[in-house]
Amino acid sequence: MKKDSDTPQDLREFLKILEEKGDLALVEGADWNLEIGALNEIMAERKGPALLFDKIKDYPKGYRIATNVLYRDTFQKIAFGMPEKLSNIEAIRYWMDKLKEYVPVPPNIVDSGPILENVLEGSDIDILKFPAPKWHELDGGRYIGTGVSTITKDLNEGWVNVGTYRVMVHDKETLSFYASPGKHAVIMREKYWAQGKDCPVVMCFGQQPLLFGCATLGLPWGVPELDFVGYIQNKPVDVIIGKETGLPIPANSELVIEGFSPPPDKDGRPEGPFGEWTGYYASGKRNEPVIRIKRIYFRNDPIILGQPAVISSINVYPVPLHNAIKLWTDIEKLGLQGIKGLYVHGPGNRIICVISLQQKFLGHARQVATAAGALLVEGACTGRYIITVDDDIDPSNLDEVLWAVCTRSDPETAIHIMPGFLSSPLDPTLPPEKRERGDYTTAKVFINACRPYHWKDSFPPISISSPEIREKAMMKFKDIFEK
Ligand SMILES: Cc1cc2nc3c(=O)[nH]c(=O)nc-3n(C[C@H](O)[C@H](O)[C@H](O)COP(=O)(O)O)c2cc1C
Repeated sequence: MKKDSDTPQDLREFLKILEEKGDLALVEGADWNLEIGALNEIMAERKGPALLFDKIKDYPKGYRIATNVLYRDTFQKIAFGMPEKLSNIEAIRYWMDKLKEYVPVPPNIVDSGPILENVLEGSDIDILKFPAPKWHELDGGRYIGTGVSTITKDLNEGWVNVGTYRVMVHDKETLSFYASPGKHAVIMREKYWAQGKDCPVVMCFGQQPLLFGCATLGLPWGVPELDFVGYIQNKPVDVIIGKETGLPIPANSELVIEGFSPPPDKDGRPEGPFGEWTGYYASGKRNEPVIRIKRIYFRNDPIILGQPAVISSINVYPVPLHNAIKLWTDIEKLGLQGIKGLYVHGPGNRIICVISLQQKFLGHARQVATAAGALLVEGACTGRYIITVDDDIDPSNLDEVLWAVCTRSDPETAIHIMPGFLSSPLDPTLPPEKRERGDYTTAKVFINACRPYHWKDSFPPISISSPEIREKAMMKFKDIFEK
């Protein structure tokens, strides 16, 4: 019997769990050209089942793509090895507490594994054998890497990073990848290039979902994601060692390339535009570094993980583990008291930060909100709206948050706008003239939707049935709740 905190060890095991729950739909015969993108988008909007595409147009049966696998909070909890019964705020707390005890669990090197079932080398190398969708009409090409885990090693320090950076297909042996300035793979590849060397790279296009999750989390410099996965699942990740690069390759991946990224003055190709996490094409097309493929590994009937951005308030994860955990931990380190919950909503889990607190003194909400505004800084237009609510509001529930904003904040006194925070070129609201002068700044808005502290005790009472009355009524008429 599977425990609900067991972590799926590869993508197909995860999909099997979803299938057994009736949460996986098989789609046969879809076109890689825009059709898969559209179906994924519609299903993500509806928070529908995960999709497994097979018999994709122009490709043999068995060359599959899985999408929409993380848009429901239960899917994410299964993928990340968390008990499904946790509320979303409890899930954030669960990971926060786990991280406080972190001890690295390095990968286990093995000689064989499913990824060695098929290997293509030399003139057999052809990445075009695998379906890469064109996800949206204005995309500049076919993107095989959206749910990708890219592995690089630091030349001087020797630690191995895994990060998610989009990957476009150019020809049968050439890919390019876009990683924003400051990302760990960018820092690492520049060290090789500074010495005139090509940077060794491994890309997994379908892997254990927990590894993909950790590849997107933004762990600190020097913390290897493979060790981190080992710690979270309480079991080392099995890896084989890549013949070309010497890099570790998760042995249960679905499709992997090994290759080298030459300095951009040797080779670079136009990359993009690509529908970004904000839901726009704000950063256009640029020359980006390429990867020259030296080896392709794949399992029988490989499954590529597709995770393109869709326009939604949760276009990455329903439970914002990355930003919420870091911010909550940082605020606690400052010694600020009374925080009961913290959530980050909006595209990329970045834009709307909601903090619930038990107000203890005049100005408490303002103190916490300004600290959060200052600390939530990673990525374009991050933390643009900071909302504080009382502790009877669940910050993960936007209906409740909106109700508090509508009924507890007087716009004349509760809203403050502060300009001049760092944003980025990906911010779609930057006016052309600001963009031209390189002014990538944004304002932040602070909304205090807590009952005003100095008269909170005489604020009108809430008209809601007490938990006891609800419980009794539900027990008495439980039939109507089972339908
Ligand atoms: C689905 C998804 C796609 C992403 N695509 C990119 C991308 O194309 N380029 C990029 O720089 N960051 C992208 N990110 C964000 C990075 O994966 C994230 O910042 C991660 O922490 C980078 O790893 P690193 O900290 O080891 O550099 C994406 C995140 C997600 C969830």
